[in-house]
Amino acid sequence: ARVVVLVSGTGSNLAALLAAHGDPAYGARVVAVVSNTADAPALAKAQAVGVATAVVAPGDFPDRAAWDAALARTVEVFDPELVVLAGFMRILGEPFLARFGGRIVNTHPALLPSFPGAHGVRDALAYGVRVTGCTVHLVDAGVDTGPIVAQRAVEVLDGDDEAGLHERIKAVERELLVDVVGRLAREGYAVDGRTVRIG
Ligand code: GRF
Repeated sequence: ARVVVLVSGTGSNLAALLAAHGDPAYGARVVAVVSNTADAPALAKAQAVGVATAVVAPGDFPDRAAWDAALARTVEVFDPELVVLAGFMRILGEPFLARFGGRIVNTHPALLPSFPGAHGVRDALAYGVRVTGCTVHLVDAGVDTGPIVAQRAVEVLDGDDEAGLHERIKAVERELLVDVVGRLAREGYAVDGRTVRIG
């Protein structure tokens, strides 16, 4: 299955997908990486292994809708069966969802529906939960609200700070994302009582 990954940052989740996709038995292949910012270190990770990259920066467009439409057009060129948001820090709008809805997954560093938004790790720590984790979910028009595909738990340790806890979550998160993307491509995944399969 053809996968386009959207990124904004470091790209450790992307790197895990790139490490897995060389094996044909994995079933999914990253065909392009698209960022909303030219500064994302994730872009170099893709380029280093010969995967196509593109930047669609909001500042280059008159408004949100124009940016969203340009993003959809850019992703469409690569004809993906699945779009993966891996540390993509922008909300997708209607044109993008209309084109790829039902075939977009996001990874979030908390156990949704708890602690959605840009600071899931910080908010979980501030609340004082003793267990948090990560979630892969289908993307809908809300912020981190779509149907949950898979989750893993991570314990909060005494003395954890945001950076340390986030690193432990990310170690689990990338394993989960690699597992989910491969399974979606190979046999499908039960979500909300029906099997979601791509490719
Ligand atoms: C991940 O924890 C993701 O869930 C969050 O930001 C982090 C991105 O990490 N939204 P990376 O860019 O994949 O290293």
